[in-house]
Amino acid sequence: MSRSLPSTTEAPVLAVEGLHITVNGGATEAVRDVSFSVRAGESVGLVGESGSGKTLTCRSVLGVLPPGCEVSQGSARLSGAELTALDRRGWERLRGVNLGAVFQDPASYLNPSLTVGRQLAEPLRVRGGLSRSEARRRAVRLLGSVGLHRPEEVFHRYPFELSGGMLQRVLIATAIAGEPELLVADEATTALDTVVQAEVLDLLARLRAERGLALLLVSHDLAVVAEVCDRILVFYAGEIVEDGPTEQVLAHPAHPYTEALLRVASIGDWERRELAVIPGRPPEAGAAPSGCRFADRCEYARAECGAQDLLPLREFGERGERRTRCVRAGELALSGTVLQEVGA
Ligand SMILES: Nc1ncnc2c1ncn2[C@@H]1O[C@H](COP(=O)(O)OP(=O)(O)O)[C@@H](O)[C@H]1O
Ligand code: SF4
Ligand SMILES: [Mg+2]
Repeated sequence: MSRSLPSTTEAPVLAVEGLHITVNGGATEAVRDVSFSVRAGESVGLVGESGSGKTLTCRSVLGVLPPGCEVSQGSARLSGAELTALDRRGWERLRGVNLGAVFQDPASYLNPSLTVGRQLAEPLRVRGGLSRSEARRRAVRLLGSVGLHRPEEVFHRYPFELSGGMLQRVLIATAIAGEPELLVADEATTALDTVVQAEVLDLLARLRAERGLALLLVSHDLAVVAEVCDRILVFYAGEIVEDGPTEQVLAHPAHPYTEALLRVASIGDWERRELAVIPGRPPEAGAAPSGCRFADRCEYARAECGAQDLLPLREFGERGERRTRCVRAGELALSGTVLQEVGA
Protein backbone atom coordinates (compact mmCIF):
# COMPACT_ATOMS: atom_id res chain seq x y z
CA MET A 1 0.00 0.00 0.00
CA SER A 2 1.52 3.34 -0.95
CA ARG A 3 1.55 6.27 1.41
CA SER A 4 1.65 9.84 0.26
CA LEU A 5 2.87 12.17 2.95
CA PRO A 6 0.84 15.36 3.28
CA SER A 7 2.48 18.74 3.16
CA THR A 8 3.79 19.78 6.56
CA THR A 9 2.96 23.43 5.92
CA GLU A 10 -0.81 22.80 5.93
CA ALA A 11 -2.66 23.71 9.14
CA PRO A 12 -3.53 20.54 11.05
CA VAL A 13 -7.10 19.23 11.12
CA LEU A 14 -6.56 18.12 14.72
CA ALA A 15 -4.11 19.79 17.10
CA VAL A 16 -3.82 18.38 20.63
CA GLU A 17 -1.65 20.32 23.05
CA GLY A 18 -0.63 19.42 26.61
CA LEU A 19 -3.70 17.23 27.19
CA HIS A 20 -4.24 15.76 30.68
CA ILE A 21 -7.19 13.45 31.47
CA THR A 22 -8.27 12.47 34.97
CA VAL A 23 -10.40 9.45 35.92
CA ASN A 24 -12.27 8.48 39.11
CA GLY A 25 -13.79 11.94 39.47
CA GLY A 26 -10.44 13.74 39.23
CA ALA A 27 -8.64 11.51 41.76
CA THR A 28 -6.28 9.90 39.24
CA GLU A 29 -4.44 11.30 36.26
CA ALA A 30 -4.55 8.64 33.52
CA VAL A 31 -3.29 10.71 30.55
CA ARG A 32 -0.51 13.28 30.96
CA ASP A 33 0.93 15.92 28.68
CA VAL A 34 -0.22 14.48 25.35
CA SER A 35 0.52 16.65 22.30
CA PHE A 36 0.22 15.73 18.62
CA SER A 37 -1.41 16.84 15.41
CA VAL A 38 -3.03 15.22 12.38
CA ARG A 39 -3.18 16.91 8.99
CA ALA A 40 -5.67 16.41 6.15
CA GLY A 41 -4.91 13.16 4.34
CA GLU A 42 -2.53 12.04 7.07
CA SER A 43 -2.91 8.96 9.23
CA VAL A 44 -1.48 8.85 12.72
CA GLY A 45 -1.36 5.63 14.73
CA LEU A 46 -1.50 5.21 18.50
CA VAL A 47 0.28 2.14 19.88
CA GLY A 48 1.08 1.00 23.40
CA GLU A 49 0.01 -1.71 25.77
CA SER A 50 -3.45 -1.99 27.27
CA GLY A 51 -4.21 0.79 29.77
CA SER A 52 -1.67 3.25 28.32
CA GLY A 53 -4.28 5.93 27.55
CA LYS A 54 -4.98 5.47 23.83
CA THR A 55 -8.75 5.13 24.12
CA LEU A 56 -9.16 7.99 26.63
CA THR A 57 -7.17 10.24 24.30
CA CYS A 58 -9.43 9.33 21.35
CA ARG A 59 -12.59 9.64 23.39
CA SER A 60 -11.61 13.11 24.58
CA VAL A 61 -11.26 14.17 20.94
CA LEU A 62 -14.70 12.72 20.18
CA GLY A 63 -16.34 14.23 23.29
CA VAL A 64 -17.36 10.81 24.61
CA LEU A 65 -15.24 10.37 27.74
CA PRO A 66 -16.81 7.87 30.17
CA PRO A 67 -18.47 9.18 33.36
CA GLY A 68 -15.94 10.27 35.98
CA CYS A 69 -13.28 11.01 33.34
CA GLU A 70 -12.49 14.54 32.18
CA VAL A 71 -9.94 16.73 30.45
CA SER A 72 -8.24 18.52 33.35
CA GLN A 73 -5.71 20.53 31.33
CA GLY A 74 -4.75 21.23 27.76
CA SER A 75 -6.34 21.88 24.45
CA ALA A 76 -7.68 19.96 21.46
CA ARG A 77 -8.59 21.95 18.36
CA LEU A 78 -10.43 20.64 15.33
CA SER A 79 -9.78 22.93 12.36
CA GLY A 80 -9.07 25.68 14.85
CA ALA A 81 -12.22 25.17 17.01
CA GLU A 82 -11.50 24.40 20.66
CA LEU A 83 -13.07 21.05 21.57
CA THR A 84 -12.46 21.12 25.32
CA ALA A 85 -14.78 24.14 25.67
CA LEU A 86 -17.76 22.57 23.83
CA ASP A 87 -21.07 21.97 25.57
CA ARG A 88 -23.40 19.08 24.71
CA ARG A 89 -25.06 20.93 21.83
CA GLY A 90 -21.70 21.96 20.44
CA TRP A 91 -20.59 18.31 20.39
CA GLU A 92 -23.84 17.22 18.74
CA ARG A 93 -23.25 19.72 15.94
CA LEU A 94 -19.70 18.44 15.34
CA ARG A 95 -20.18 14.71 15.70
CA GLY A 96 -21.00 12.94 12.48
CA VAL A 97 -20.35 16.14 10.52
CA ASN A 98 -16.76 17.17 11.31
CA LEU A 99 -15.90 14.03 13.24
CA GLY A 100 -16.50 10.37 12.51
CA ALA A 101 -15.70 7.38 14.69
CA VAL A 102 -15.41 3.63 14.26
CA PHE A 103 -14.93 1.23 17.18
CA GLN A 104 -14.19 -2.43 17.74
CA ASP A 105 -17.71 -3.75 18.12
CA PRO A 106 -19.84 -2.33 15.28
CA ALA A 107 -22.99 -4.22 16.34
CA SER A 108 -23.22 -2.27 19.58
CA TYR A 109 -23.21 1.05 17.70
CA LEU A 110 -26.05 0.08 15.37
CA ASN A 111 -29.70 -0.17 16.35
CA PRO A 112 -30.69 -3.88 16.04
CA SER A 113 -34.34 -3.07 15.33
CA LEU A 114 -33.77 -0.76 12.34
CA THR A 115 -32.50 -1.63 8.86
CA VAL A 116 -29.00 -0.36 8.13
CA GLY A 117 -30.42 1.75 5.30
CA ARG A 118 -32.76 3.57 7.63
CA GLN A 119 -29.94 4.20 10.13
CA LEU A 120 -27.82 5.64 7.38
CA ALA A 121 -30.49 7.62 5.54
CA GLU A 122 -32.30 9.14 8.53
CA PRO A 123 -29.43 11.44 9.66
CA LEU A 124 -28.83 12.44 6.03
CA ARG A 125 -32.45 13.54 5.84
CA VAL A 126 -32.79 15.14 9.27
CA ARG A 127 -29.34 16.71 9.65
CA GLY A 128 -28.24 16.93 6.02
CA GLY A 129 -31.56 18.36 4.83
CA LEU A 130 -31.94 15.82 2.00
CA SER A 131 -35.35 14.65 0.81
CA ARG A 132 -36.36 11.09 1.64
CA SER A 133 -35.50 9.80 -1.84
CA GLU A 134 -32.23 11.75 -2.04
CA ALA A 135 -31.18 10.45 1.38
CA ARG A 136 -31.97 6.94 0.27
CA ARG A 137 -29.96 7.27 -2.95
CA ARG A 138 -27.05 8.78 -1.03
CA ALA A 139 -27.18 5.96 1.57
CA VAL A 140 -27.06 3.30 -1.15
CA ARG A 141 -24.11 5.10 -2.77
CA LEU A 142 -22.32 5.22 0.59
CA LEU A 143 -22.88 1.50 1.14
CA GLY A 144 -21.38 0.87 -2.28
CA SER A 145 -18.43 3.20 -1.62
CA VAL A 146 -17.39 1.18 1.44
CA GLY A 147 -17.15 -1.92 -0.73
CA LEU A 148 -20.48 -3.63 0.08
CA HIS A 149 -21.76 -5.64 -2.88
CA ARG A 150 -25.40 -5.14 -3.90
CA PRO A 151 -25.79 -2.05 -1.73
CA GLU A 152 -29.53 -1.80 -2.59
CA GLU A 153 -30.05 -5.16 -0.88
CA VAL A 154 -27.82 -4.35 2.07
CA PHE A 155 -29.88 -1.18 2.56
CA HIS A 156 -32.88 -3.33 3.58
CA ARG A 157 -30.96 -5.67 5.90
CA TYR A 158 -31.03 -5.61 9.70
CA PRO A 159 -27.66 -5.64 11.53
CA PHE A 160 -28.09 -9.26 12.69
CA GLU A 161 -28.28 -10.38 9.04
CA LEU A 162 -24.75 -9.11 8.30
CA SER A 163 -21.29 -10.51 9.08
CA GLY A 164 -18.80 -8.68 11.33
CA GLY A 165 -16.84 -7.39 8.34
CA MET A 166 -20.01 -6.11 6.63
CA LEU A 167 -21.16 -4.44 9.85
CA GLN A 168 -17.82 -2.68 10.20
CA ARG A 169 -18.21 -1.38 6.64
CA VAL A 170 -21.72 -0.16 7.50
CA LEU A 171 -20.33 1.62 10.57
CA ILE A 172 -17.62 3.20 8.43
CA ALA A 173 -20.35 4.33 6.00
CA THR A 174 -22.26 5.99 8.87
CA ALA A 175 -19.01 7.57 10.10
CA ILE A 176 -18.18 9.13 6.72
CA ALA A 177 -21.78 10.03 5.76
CA GLY A 178 -21.40 13.61 6.99
CA GLU A 179 -18.05 13.93 5.14
CA PRO A 180 -16.02 14.45 8.33
CA GLU A 181 -12.55 15.97 8.34
CA LEU A 182 -11.31 13.51 10.96
CA LEU A 183 -12.03 9.81 11.34
CA VAL A 184 -11.09 8.14 14.61
CA ALA A 185 -10.78 4.33 14.48
CA ASP A 186 -10.17 2.67 17.85
CA GLU A 187 -9.37 -1.05 17.45
CA ALA A 188 -11.76 -0.99 14.47
CA THR A 189 -10.34 -4.14 12.89
CA THR A 190 -9.43 -6.08 16.05
CA ALA A 191 -12.44 -8.41 16.05
CA LEU A 192 -12.15 -9.25 12.34
CA ASP A 193 -10.29 -12.18 10.83
CA THR A 194 -7.03 -11.40 9.04
CA VAL A 195 -8.39 -11.27 5.49
CA VAL A 196 -11.37 -9.05 6.37
CA GLN A 197 -9.09 -6.91 8.54
CA ALA A 198 -6.77 -6.29 5.59
CA GLU A 199 -9.79 -5.36 3.41
CA VAL A 200 -11.14 -2.88 5.98
CA LEU A 201 -7.67 -1.33 6.36
CA ASP A 202 -7.46 -0.96 2.58
CA LEU A 203 -10.86 0.72 2.67
CA LEU A 204 -9.71 3.22 5.34
CA ALA A 205 -6.58 3.96 3.31
CA ARG A 206 -8.65 4.49 0.16
CA LEU A 207 -11.13 6.81 1.91
CA ARG A 208 -8.23 8.77 3.32
CA ALA A 209 -6.67 9.19 -0.12
CA GLU A 210 -9.94 9.93 -1.96
CA ARG A 211 -11.50 12.24 0.60
CA GLY A 212 -8.40 13.76 2.21
CA LEU A 213 -9.57 12.40 5.56
CA ALA A 214 -7.34 12.83 8.56
CA LEU A 215 -7.18 9.43 10.26
CA LEU A 216 -6.40 8.72 13.91
CA LEU A 217 -6.01 4.99 14.28
CA VAL A 218 -5.58 2.95 17.46
CA SER A 219 -4.51 -0.65 17.28
CA HIS A 220 -2.90 -3.03 19.71
CA ASP A 221 -1.37 -4.62 16.60
CA LEU A 222 1.78 -2.79 15.60
CA ALA A 223 1.68 -4.38 12.14
CA VAL A 224 -1.68 -2.69 11.44
CA VAL A 225 -0.35 0.73 12.41
CA ALA A 226 2.87 0.10 10.49
CA GLU A 227 0.92 -0.62 7.33
CA VAL A 228 -1.59 2.21 7.44
CA CYS A 229 0.00 5.12 9.31
CA ASP A 230 2.37 7.90 8.24
CA ARG A 231 3.32 8.61 11.82
CA ILE A 232 3.29 6.65 15.07
CA LEU A 233 2.68 7.85 18.61
CA VAL A 234 3.99 5.39 21.20
CA PHE A 235 2.02 5.53 24.47
CA TYR A 236 3.35 4.31 27.79
CA ALA A 237 1.63 4.76 31.17
CA GLY A 238 -0.52 7.67 29.94
CA GLU A 239 2.25 9.56 28.15
CA ILE A 240 3.55 9.70 24.59
CA VAL A 241 7.11 8.44 25.03
CA GLU A 242 8.12 8.64 21.38
CA ASP A 243 6.68 9.73 18.06
CA GLY A 244 7.82 10.24 14.50
CA PRO A 245 7.44 9.03 10.91
CA THR A 246 6.52 5.33 10.89
CA GLU A 247 9.51 4.00 8.98
CA GLN A 248 11.96 5.94 11.12
CA VAL A 249 10.42 4.90 14.44
CA LEU A 250 10.34 1.24 13.39
CA ALA A 251 13.82 1.17 11.90
CA HIS A 252 15.53 3.33 14.55
CA PRO A 253 13.48 3.66 17.75
CA ALA A 254 14.38 6.57 20.01
CA HIS A 255 12.95 5.12 23.22
CA PRO A 256 13.78 1.79 24.90
CA TYR A 257 10.06 1.04 25.35
CA THR A 258 9.58 1.18 21.57
CA GLU A 259 12.59 -1.08 21.13
CA ALA A 260 11.09 -3.54 23.62
CA LEU A 261 7.74 -3.47 21.75
CA LEU A 262 9.42 -4.09 18.42
CA ARG A 263 11.40 -6.99 19.84
CA VAL A 264 8.22 -8.87 20.63
CA ALA A 265 6.05 -7.56 17.83
CA SER A 266 7.03 -9.42 14.67
CA ILE A 267 3.38 -9.92 13.70
CA GLY A 268 0.28 -10.72 15.63
CA ASP A 269 -1.06 -10.16 19.05
CA TRP A 270 1.91 -8.63 20.81
CA GLU A 271 -0.16 -6.84 23.42
CA ARG A 272 -0.77 -9.92 25.51
CA ARG A 273 2.66 -11.44 24.99
CA GLU A 274 4.38 -8.19 25.79
CA LEU A 275 3.90 -8.22 29.53
CA ALA A 276 5.53 -11.61 29.70
CA VAL A 277 8.44 -10.56 27.51
CA ILE A 278 9.17 -7.09 28.91
CA PRO A 279 9.76 -7.80 32.59
CA GLY A 280 7.74 -5.76 35.07
CA ARG A 281 4.58 -3.71 34.73
CA PRO A 282 3.84 -0.06 34.02
CA PRO A 283 3.21 2.11 37.08
CA GLU A 284 -0.44 2.30 38.18
CA ALA A 285 -2.26 5.39 36.90
CA GLY A 286 -1.86 8.09 39.54
CA ALA A 287 1.08 6.35 41.20
CA ALA A 288 3.55 7.36 38.51
CA PRO A 289 7.09 7.78 39.80
CA SER A 290 9.14 10.91 39.22
CA GLY A 291 11.52 10.84 36.28
CA CYS A 292 11.09 8.28 33.55
CA ARG A 293 7.98 6.13 33.94
CA PHE A 294 9.65 3.24 32.12
CA ALA A 295 12.73 3.20 34.39
CA ASP A 296 11.70 0.10 36.40
CA ARG A 297 11.56 -1.98 33.24
CA CYS A 298 14.36 -0.36 31.27
CA GLU A 299 17.61 -2.21 30.77
CA TYR A 300 19.39 1.11 30.02
CA ALA A 301 18.24 2.96 33.17
CA ARG A 302 20.80 5.13 34.98
CA ALA A 303 20.58 7.49 37.95
CA GLU A 304 20.03 10.48 35.61
CA CYS A 305 16.76 8.93 34.37
CA GLY A 306 15.04 9.65 37.68
CA ALA A 307 16.77 12.95 38.39
CA GLN A 308 14.16 15.21 36.77
CA ASP A 309 10.68 15.36 38.17
CA LEU A 310 8.77 14.69 34.93
CA LEU A 311 10.59 14.10 31.68
CA PRO A 312 9.48 16.34 28.80
CA LEU A 313 8.90 15.07 25.27
CA ARG A 314 11.78 16.68 23.42
CA GLU A 315 12.73 16.94 19.78
CA PHE A 316 15.02 14.29 18.48
CA GLY A 317 16.66 13.56 15.15
CA GLU A 318 18.32 15.71 12.54
CA ARG A 319 15.24 17.49 11.27
CA GLY A 320 13.35 17.62 14.56
CA GLU A 321 10.43 15.60 13.16
CA ARG A 322 10.75 13.06 15.95
CA ARG A 323 10.25 13.34 19.71
CA THR A 324 11.28 11.17 22.66
CA ARG A 325 11.09 11.30 26.45
CA CYS A 326 14.23 9.19 26.91
CA VAL A 327 17.09 11.30 28.31
CA ARG A 328 19.62 8.83 26.90
CA ALA A 329 18.13 8.63 23.38
CA GLY A 330 21.11 10.26 21.66
CA GLU A 331 23.69 7.90 23.12
CA LEU A 332 21.81 4.58 22.83
CA ALA A 333 21.97 2.46 19.68
CA LEU A 334 18.51 0.89 19.85
CA SER A 335 17.48 -1.88 17.47
CA GLY A 336 14.57 -1.54 15.11
CA THR A 337 12.74 -3.91 12.86
CA VAL A 338 11.00 -4.13 9.51
CA LEU A 339 7.51 -5.47 9.99
CA GLN A 340 5.78 -7.57 7.35
CA GLU A 341 2.52 -6.34 5.92
CA VAL A 342 -0.79 -7.31 7.50
CA GLY A 343 -2.10 -10.56 6.09
CA ALA A 344 1.23 -11.36 4.42
N1 LIG B 1 -14.10 4.76 32.74
C1 LIG B 1 -12.94 4.71 33.41
N2 LIG B 1 -12.91 4.86 34.73
C2 LIG B 1 -11.75 4.80 35.43
N3 LIG B 1 -10.55 4.60 34.87
C3 LIG B 1 -10.51 4.44 33.53
C4 LIG B 1 -11.69 4.49 32.73
N4 LIG B 1 -11.34 4.31 31.44
C5 LIG B 1 -10.00 4.14 31.44
N5 LIG B 1 -9.49 4.22 32.69
C6 LIG B 1 -8.10 4.09 33.07
O1 LIG B 1 -7.32 4.97 32.30
C7 LIG B 1 -6.14 4.35 31.83
C8 LIG B 1 -6.07 4.41 30.32
O2 LIG B 1 -7.13 3.63 29.78
P1 LIG B 1 -7.40 3.52 28.20
O3 LIG B 1 -7.35 4.87 27.60
O4 LIG B 1 -8.65 2.74 28.04
O5 LIG B 1 -6.15 2.65 27.73
P2 LIG B 1 -5.88 1.92 26.33
O6 LIG B 1 -6.92 2.31 25.35
O7 LIG B 1 -4.51 2.35 25.95
O8 LIG B 1 -5.93 0.46 26.65
C9 LIG B 1 -6.15 2.93 32.41
O9 LIG B 1 -5.38 2.94 33.60
C10 LIG B 1 -7.58 2.69 32.72
O10 LIG B 1 -7.72 1.84 33.82
S1 SF4 C 1 15.10 7.79 30.37
FE1 SF4 C 1 16.43 6.17 31.18
S2 SF4 C 1 15.02 4.69 32.12
FE2 SF4 C 1 13.83 5.99 30.76
S3 SF4 C 1 13.76 4.92 28.84
FE3 SF4 C 1 15.51 6.31 28.73
S4 SF4 C 1 17.25 5.08 29.42
FE4 SF4 C 1 15.40 3.99 30.04
MG1 LIG D 1 -8.26 1.04 24.26
